[in-house]
Amino acid sequence: MIVNIEDLRKHAHRRLPRAVFDYVDGGAEDEYTMRANRLGFEKYNFHARALVDVSARDQSTTLLGEKLTTPVILGPTGLAGLVAPRGEILAARAAAKKGSIFTLSTMSVCSIEEVASAVPAPAPLWFQLYVWKDRGISKALIERAQAAGYRALCLTVDVADMGRRERDIRNGFTIPLRVTPSNVLDTLMHLGWVFQMLRVPRPTFGNFVGTGTVEKEDAISVASFTSKQFDPSVSWADLAWVRSIWKGPLLLKGISCAADARLAVEHGVEGVIVSNHGGRQLDFLPSAIDLLPEIVDAVEGRTELILDGGIRRGSDVVKAIALGARACMVGRPFLYGLATKGEAGVELMFDLLRTEIDRTLSLIGRPKLRDLDRSALRYDTRLLPPPAGEDVKHLTTRSVA
Ligand code: FNR
Repeated sequence: MIVNIEDLRKHAHRRLPRAVFDYVDGGAEDEYTMRANRLGFEKYNFHARALVDVSARDQSTTLLGEKLTTPVILGPTGLAGLVAPRGEILAARAAAKKGSIFTLSTMSVCSIEEVASAVPAPAPLWFQLYVWKDRGISKALIERAQAAGYRALCLTVDVADMGRRERDIRNGFTIPLRVTPSNVLDTLMHLGWVFQMLRVPRPTFGNFVGTGTVEKEDAISVASFTSKQFDPSVSWADLAWVRSIWKGPLLLKGISCAADARLAVEHGVEGVIVSNHGGRQLDFLPSAIDLLPEIVDAVEGRTELILDGGIRRGSDVVKAIALGARACMVGRPFLYGLATKGEAGVELMFDLLRTEIDRTLSLIGRPKLRDLDRSALRYDTRLLPPPAGEDVKHLTTRSVA
């Protein structure tokens, strides 16, 4: 039975070969930050009010001019098409059906154009960019996304080097996946997934087919491919170059401190995604939710904020919105749904979160998501001191002195 996101995760675990599940589920090094992303939410409790009329609840919002029926959007995840055949298309369709946004990764299996043509026209799509050392390739990606009608560009800025994901190293995770003596038994135990994947072309990095970058390689380890191609010299000065090509809204994904959030505002970006990359890049960054308050205070409403990392419950979303985020981005939750039931599994993920958000709004006596503020929260100081930079004055009560 599937009653929550953790159940989707368990199903995904059973369905996927070990190397694929670990690629999705794992984080960098000790996976401290990945765990912290969950624990961070546990430090916030609610300040609930009784006898409030909550009969008319509303969790809709707007994000960079897009109307969302729920404040949850799908983040960029490379190789979603390895989790289920044509995974990016399935997830994009589910997001469109649920009144949300799908963000396509540079490292997707389905290409920019394939995804755009598979989704009904008014549905908003965003494109996530990694800057390639060959700037001609990056420029072409931005132009392709623009031509295909993607509404916003999301530049990921926490990849100066690749996080070391030790599960992938141990599993010998490569594209295409190889059957080796050490994983043959595991492969045989996941024939449902194997037969599904045999019906579609071998997954590869769809946006680079024909550019000479993927064809040259036989089996590529994602880590070595990306560290060879990503440009570690990217700096604030390059935003003007991106702006000269991309004409729509620009977001920075992977901002993790107030000083960088202020610089983002000074550079005129339309949105900041507060993120530690789901704990897949720098280990020992604080949890995403603990990064949020100092960034909310730093930007003073001058750019829209999205909280990314660790969302597994509707109550997590309510906490992030109460702290000042406009919306939340999810990665693994929709991949677990995709692995479990394809497009219907991603829809189920939306339904689970939406119902939990709705119930939380009722029970805390705050029917309108847009009216949430920090007074809806208490900070549980039994667990840990308040996060760096947090102005605890904003919280009406600390639950335990
Ligand atoms: C990611 N993430 C990511 N981010 C990005 O900017 N470009 C990318 O290509 C990828 N690829 C990717 C693959 C996989 C398998 C995962 C799980 C994640 C990070 C992603 O956008 C997001 O920041 C995290 O997934 C958020 O944390 P949660 O929701 O997974 O806890």
